[in-house]
Amino acid sequence: MFRVLVTDEVDQEGVVLLTAEPALQVDELPTLPKDELLRRIGEYDAIVGRSATRISAELLKAGGKLKVVGRAGVGVDNIELDVATSLGIAIINAPAGNTVAVAELFFGTVIGLLRQLHTAAAAMGDGRWDRAKFMGRELKGKTLGIVGLGRIGSEVAARAHAFGMTVVAYDPYIADERFAALRVRRAPSLDALLAETNVLTLHVPLTDETRGMIGKRELARLPARSVVVNLARGGVIEEAALQAALETDQLRGAVLDVFTVEPLAPDSPLRNIPNLVLTPHLGANTVEAQRNVSRDVCVAVRDALLHNDLSRS
Ligand code: MLT
Repeated sequence: MFRVLVTDEVDQEGVVLLTAEPALQVDELPTLPKDELLRRIGEYDAIVGRSATRISAELLKAGGKLKVVGRAGVGVDNIELDVATSLGIAIINAPAGNTVAVAELFFGTVIGLLRQLHTAAAAMGDGRWDRAKFMGRELKGKTLGIVGLGRIGSEVAARAHAFGMTVVAYDPYIADERFAALRVRRAPSLDALLAETNVLTLHVPLTDETRGMIGKRELARLPARSVVVNLARGGVIEEAALQAALETDQLRGAVLDVFTVEPLAPDSPLRNIPNLVLTPHLGANTVEAQRNVSRDVCVAVRDALLHNDLSRS
């Protein structure tokens, strides 16, 4: 009998695949306080969660029986990977299931920003009817600069063609054939990409290489009145530099769905910038995406425990 702890509101679609197995005993404890989790982790063979639970070195070391950490989502930056590896604990994520959700949120938020939907809706709520004030901009004819042409970046690129955008990307890890198949022009460097981008979007994981990759210097390379969108990870953009670029009108606007520290502090200065659209890490928050990632990770965790199949880790 293996014991599995499910945290962070993982969708039932996958959880039932675990509970249906007689050889697995599953506890669903979505909001376990950190201390309580630390006290109880030693009872479990596997933990499955989203990004809210930090899988720290301390937690991994306290998990004496822990064999698998399952992440219902793509990002594993909430997990101490080196420690897990040194302890022989497998990490399993679900990299494919939420790509469409993030790509669709990109277009929803960027069009919302360019048409000022957030302020127009608020004005309607205040009883106003300000048509002239909310003159928008179109995506057609603009250049979309994508940093990271992996699964999500590719879905964004495919949809951008339908909006009549020119699509350029910077990703040194992706082959020319993939660029060609996606009809995306390769930028030779990040600086070259920035120099011709009207709408910049980031689709990279948070690593030592990407942390702070968009700061004051990079923002200054964008053409005046560009737009910046970050639905990837908070630390990739320097928030203070972005704030300054918005407040001086160097940028037309920005969208942030992810933050260096989450949840974003109630008194964060980012909350008071009119041309900045903020959402609370909603990239993967669709019914479809949560079903997909839950099913993918739970199947993989089940197979890892019951059949010692770690081929998907
Ligand atoms: C992911 O990494 O899959 C997304 O950011 C969603 C999440 O953190 O749950």
